[in-house]
Amino acid sequence: MSNNKGFASDNHSGVHPDILKAIISANVGHANAYGNDDYTKRAVKKFKEYFGSNIEVYFVYNGTAANILGLKTITDSFNSIICAETAHLNVHECCGPENFIGCKLITVPTVDGKLTINKIKPHIFGFGDPHCAQPKIISITQPTELGTVYTPEEIRKLSNFAHKNKMQLHIDGARLCNAAAYLDVEMKDITGNVGVDILSFGGTKNGMMFGEAVIFFNKQLSKNFVFIRKQGMQLPSKMRFISSQFEAFFSNDLWLKNAKHSNRMAQLLYKEIKDVSQVK
Ligand SMILES: Cc1ncc(COP(=O)(O)O)c(C=O)c1O
Repeated sequence: MSNNKGFASDNHSGVHPDILKAIISANVGHANAYGNDDYTKRAVKKFKEYFGSNIEVYFVYNGTAANILGLKTITDSFNSIICAETAHLNVHECCGPENFIGCKLITVPTVDGKLTINKIKPHIFGFGDPHCAQPKIISITQPTELGTVYTPEEIRKLSNFAHKNKMQLHIDGARLCNAAAYLDVEMKDITGNVGVDILSFGGTKNGMMFGEAVIFFNKQLSKNFVFIRKQGMQLPSKMRFISSQFEAFFSNDLWLKNAKHSNRMAQLLYKEIKDVSQVK
């Protein structure tokens, strides 16, 4: 093991001790497989406390799967998904969205990683025209891949715009906890309460060993997810080892403590390197 710190990714860090303890305590006896266990019931209850009782939530192993399987559930192959050019969906998912979802990704250049209505508008055309991909999803990342953050008002504007055009708003929230901690708001205030339809929610980058969630705020949209998750090879058989992690994650404000800590460390890194002329 190396003592060197790696700044390339938060995936270089280990697992929070409380999460490890939760995995170990789940490792007793037998439990029903594929999510029919008490750990999963309790974890789902925690999600409802944070995101509202009217959600559907499903667990998967990783963030790429959360994005791709969630989006596949709510699109047809003739649809298009609009995202920033810098989106993980576009840059770091090995054209998995194009391959697995089968949709056209429309990528929008930005200076700060954030989409706005004005930037999206030129790409919204051809509704009902069989020659054109049918715009269906606006996908944003919160916080963005460039470390910027959407305010609740900015998200509300995007969801209103999406719904006005019979589209849906997706958030890649691999680090949603960091955004909520930074904005000092509840997680539902930057998701369901401001009109978000579907969220990929990250645990791994905030102290878990593995495990992400797909949250549908519009239950109607979720009805085929369980089949698509299984086809997509992301139905965890020993689900209790993801669910027990999420239970610990949402207990004693661990999610918030971890997110605040990493935000502080990012600020410290910024402070220490901002005067180094070689660093852009
Ligand atoms: C914004 C964002 N979304 C999704 C992912 C995908 O996560 P995974 O590597 O678990 O598939 C990452 C991973 O770094 C990410 O940074």
